[in-house]
Amino acid sequence: MIEFNPIGIIYTPFKTIENMPIQSAAAKGAAGKIIIKEEFAAGLKDLEEFSHIHLIYHFSKCAGYSLEVKPFLDDKTHGIFSTRSPKRPCAIGMSIVKITGVSANEITVENVDMLDQTPLLDIKPYIPEFDVIGGDVKIGWYQNKPKELHETKSDERFK
Ligand SMILES: C[S@@+](CC[C@H](N)C(=O)[O-])C[C@H]1O[C@@H](n2cnc3c(N)ncnc32)[C@H](O)[C@@H]1O
Repeated sequence: MIEFNPIGIIYTPFKTIENMPIQSAAAKGAAGKIIIKEEFAAGLKDLEEFSHIHLIYHFSKCAGYSLEVKPFLDDKTHGIFSTRSPKRPCAIGMSIVKITGVSANEITVENVDMLDQTPLLDIKPYIPEFDVIGGDVKIGWYQNKPKELHETKSDERFK
Protein backbone atom coordinates (compact mmCIF):
# COMPACT_ATOMS: atom_id res chain seq x y z
CA MET A 1 0.00 0.00 0.00
CA ILE A 2 1.07 3.59 -0.65
CA GLU A 3 -0.15 6.55 1.36
CA PHE A 4 -0.26 10.06 -0.08
CA ASN A 5 -0.47 13.31 1.83
CA PRO A 6 -2.48 15.67 -0.42
CA ILE A 7 -0.62 18.93 -1.13
CA GLY A 8 -3.86 20.92 -1.13
CA ILE A 9 -7.50 21.16 -2.11
CA ILE A 10 -9.11 22.11 -5.43
CA TYR A 11 -12.24 24.25 -5.10
CA THR A 12 -14.57 24.26 -8.11
CA PRO A 13 -18.16 25.30 -8.93
CA PHE A 14 -19.20 21.62 -9.18
CA LYS A 15 -20.90 20.47 -5.97
CA THR A 16 -22.52 17.35 -7.45
CA ILE A 17 -21.41 14.85 -10.08
CA GLU A 18 -24.53 15.25 -12.20
CA ASN A 19 -24.22 17.66 -15.12
CA MET A 20 -20.61 18.68 -14.59
CA PRO A 21 -18.00 18.68 -17.41
CA ILE A 22 -16.40 15.34 -18.27
CA GLN A 23 -13.02 16.75 -19.33
CA SER A 24 -11.14 20.01 -18.85
CA ALA A 25 -11.16 20.42 -22.65
CA ALA A 26 -14.95 20.69 -22.32
CA ALA A 27 -14.87 23.01 -19.29
CA LYS A 28 -13.63 26.19 -20.96
CA GLY A 29 -13.79 29.11 -18.52
CA ALA A 30 -14.97 27.06 -15.51
CA ALA A 31 -13.08 28.83 -12.72
CA GLY A 32 -11.46 27.08 -9.76
CA LYS A 33 -9.14 27.85 -6.88
CA ILE A 34 -6.40 25.70 -5.42
CA ILE A 35 -5.26 26.18 -1.85
CA ILE A 36 -1.87 24.61 -1.16
CA LYS A 37 -0.99 23.57 2.39
CA GLU A 38 1.42 26.05 3.98
CA GLU A 39 4.10 23.36 4.33
CA PHE A 40 4.23 22.96 0.52
CA ALA A 41 3.67 26.60 -0.53
CA ALA A 42 7.37 27.32 -1.23
CA GLY A 43 7.09 24.80 -4.07
CA LEU A 44 4.92 27.27 -6.04
CA LYS A 45 7.96 29.50 -6.75
CA ASP A 46 8.19 30.28 -10.52
CA LEU A 47 4.83 28.66 -11.31
CA GLU A 48 3.40 32.01 -12.44
CA GLU A 49 5.75 31.80 -15.45
CA PHE A 50 3.67 28.94 -16.85
CA SER A 51 0.28 29.31 -18.50
CA HIS A 52 -1.00 25.75 -17.90
CA ILE A 53 -0.44 22.97 -15.38
CA HIS A 54 -1.31 19.33 -14.98
CA LEU A 55 -3.28 18.65 -11.82
CA ILE A 56 -3.00 15.12 -10.40
CA TYR A 57 -5.74 14.44 -7.89
CA HIS A 58 -7.82 11.87 -6.03
CA PHE A 59 -11.31 10.96 -7.26
CA SER A 60 -12.35 11.22 -3.64
CA LYS A 61 -16.07 10.56 -4.12
CA CYS A 62 -15.72 7.25 -5.97
CA ALA A 63 -16.57 4.14 -4.00
CA GLY A 64 -14.69 1.09 -5.28
CA TYR A 65 -13.84 0.45 -8.91
CA SER A 66 -15.00 -1.35 -12.05
CA LEU A 67 -12.61 -3.06 -14.47
CA GLU A 68 -15.06 -2.65 -17.35
CA VAL A 69 -17.06 0.53 -17.78
CA LYS A 70 -19.24 2.33 -20.28
CA PRO A 71 -17.55 5.72 -20.62
CA PHE A 72 -19.55 8.94 -20.91
CA LEU A 73 -18.76 9.20 -24.62
CA ASP A 74 -19.60 5.66 -25.75
CA ASP A 75 -22.49 3.22 -25.58
CA LYS A 76 -20.14 0.24 -25.46
CA THR A 77 -18.18 -1.21 -22.55
CA HIS A 78 -14.38 -0.87 -22.42
CA GLY A 79 -11.62 -1.92 -20.03
CA ILE A 80 -11.13 0.75 -17.37
CA PHE A 81 -7.57 1.47 -18.54
CA SER A 82 -8.85 2.32 -22.03
CA THR A 83 -11.01 5.05 -20.51
CA ARG A 84 -10.77 8.14 -18.31
CA SER A 85 -13.52 6.87 -15.99
CA PRO A 86 -12.96 7.95 -12.38
CA LYS A 87 -13.92 4.53 -10.98
CA ARG A 88 -10.41 3.05 -11.21
CA PRO A 89 -8.45 0.74 -8.86
CA CYS A 90 -6.16 3.69 -8.01
CA ALA A 91 -8.59 6.61 -8.19
CA ILE A 92 -6.22 9.16 -9.73
CA GLY A 93 -7.42 11.95 -12.02
CA MET A 94 -5.38 14.25 -14.21
CA SER A 95 -6.45 17.49 -15.86
CA ILE A 96 -4.71 20.28 -17.71
CA VAL A 97 -5.93 23.66 -16.45
CA LYS A 98 -5.07 27.27 -17.29
CA ILE A 99 -3.41 29.41 -14.62
CA THR A 100 -5.08 32.79 -14.05
CA GLY A 101 -3.11 33.77 -10.92
CA VAL A 102 -0.58 32.55 -8.35
CA SER A 103 -0.16 34.20 -4.96
CA ALA A 104 1.28 32.88 -1.68
CA ASN A 105 -0.40 29.46 -1.31
CA GLU A 106 -3.21 30.00 -3.79
CA ILE A 107 -3.52 29.32 -7.52
CA THR A 108 -6.55 30.43 -9.51
CA VAL A 109 -7.29 28.37 -12.61
CA GLU A 110 -9.78 27.86 -15.42
CA ASN A 111 -11.11 24.76 -17.20
CA VAL A 112 -11.70 22.63 -14.10
CA ASP A 113 -13.45 19.25 -14.48
CA MET A 114 -13.26 17.94 -10.91
CA LEU A 115 -15.70 18.11 -7.99
CA ASP A 116 -15.48 20.87 -5.41
CA GLN A 117 -13.00 20.08 -2.61
CA THR A 118 -11.10 17.44 -4.54
CA PRO A 119 -7.80 16.50 -2.81
CA LEU A 120 -4.78 17.56 -4.89
CA LEU A 121 -1.80 15.17 -5.04
CA ASP A 122 0.58 16.96 -7.40
CA ILE A 123 1.10 19.81 -9.87
CA LYS A 124 3.33 19.65 -12.95
CA PRO A 125 3.92 22.35 -15.56
CA TYR A 126 2.38 21.74 -18.97
CA ILE A 127 5.21 21.76 -21.53
CA PRO A 128 4.15 21.01 -25.12
CA GLU A 129 7.51 19.50 -26.02
CA PHE A 130 7.03 16.92 -23.25
CA ASP A 131 3.28 16.51 -23.40
CA VAL A 132 2.22 16.67 -27.05
CA ILE A 133 3.00 13.53 -29.01
CA GLY A 134 3.63 13.99 -32.72
CA GLY A 135 3.53 11.42 -35.49
CA ASP A 136 1.18 8.43 -35.63
CA VAL A 137 -1.21 8.42 -32.69
CA LYS A 138 -3.98 5.82 -32.23
CA ILE A 139 -6.98 6.73 -30.08
CA GLY A 140 -8.90 3.45 -29.97
CA TRP A 141 -12.68 3.55 -29.44
CA TYR A 142 -12.55 7.33 -29.04
CA GLN A 143 -11.95 7.73 -32.77
CA ASN A 144 -15.55 6.69 -33.48
CA LYS A 145 -17.17 7.91 -30.27
CA PRO A 146 -20.90 8.31 -30.82
CA LYS A 147 -21.29 11.32 -28.48
CA GLU A 148 -19.83 14.79 -28.58
CA LEU A 149 -17.32 15.83 -25.90
CA HIS A 150 -18.59 19.39 -25.53
CA GLU A 151 -22.27 18.44 -25.34
CA THR A 152 -21.89 15.48 -22.97
CA LYS A 153 -22.18 16.10 -19.22
CA SER A 154 -21.39 13.84 -16.30
CA ASP A 155 -24.02 11.63 -14.68
CA GLU A 156 -24.11 9.33 -11.64
CA ARG A 157 -22.77 6.17 -13.31
CA PHE A 158 -19.35 6.20 -11.58
CA LYS A 159 -20.45 7.28 -8.11
C1 LIG B 1 -14.20 11.43 -16.83
S1 LIG B 1 -13.30 12.10 -15.44
C2 LIG B 1 -11.96 12.90 -16.27
C3 LIG B 1 -11.07 13.58 -15.28
C4 LIG B 1 -9.68 13.88 -15.77
N1 LIG B 1 -9.66 14.91 -16.80
C5 LIG B 1 -8.98 12.64 -16.25
O1 LIG B 1 -8.95 12.38 -17.46
O2 LIG B 1 -8.46 11.90 -15.38
C6 LIG B 1 -14.27 13.50 -14.96
C7 LIG B 1 -15.45 13.07 -14.18
O3 LIG B 1 -15.01 12.48 -12.95
C8 LIG B 1 -15.98 12.68 -11.94
N2 LIG B 1 -15.30 13.34 -10.82
C9 LIG B 1 -14.68 14.54 -10.81
N3 LIG B 1 -14.17 14.81 -9.60
C10 LIG B 1 -14.44 13.74 -8.82
C11 LIG B 1 -14.15 13.39 -7.45
N4 LIG B 1 -13.48 14.20 -6.63
N5 LIG B 1 -14.61 12.20 -7.01
C12 LIG B 1 -15.30 11.36 -7.80
N6 LIG B 1 -15.60 11.63 -9.10
C13 LIG B 1 -15.18 12.80 -9.59
C14 LIG B 1 -17.10 13.52 -12.57
O4 LIG B 1 -18.10 12.62 -13.05
C15 LIG B 1 -16.38 14.18 -13.76
O5 LIG B 1 -17.26 14.54 -14.78
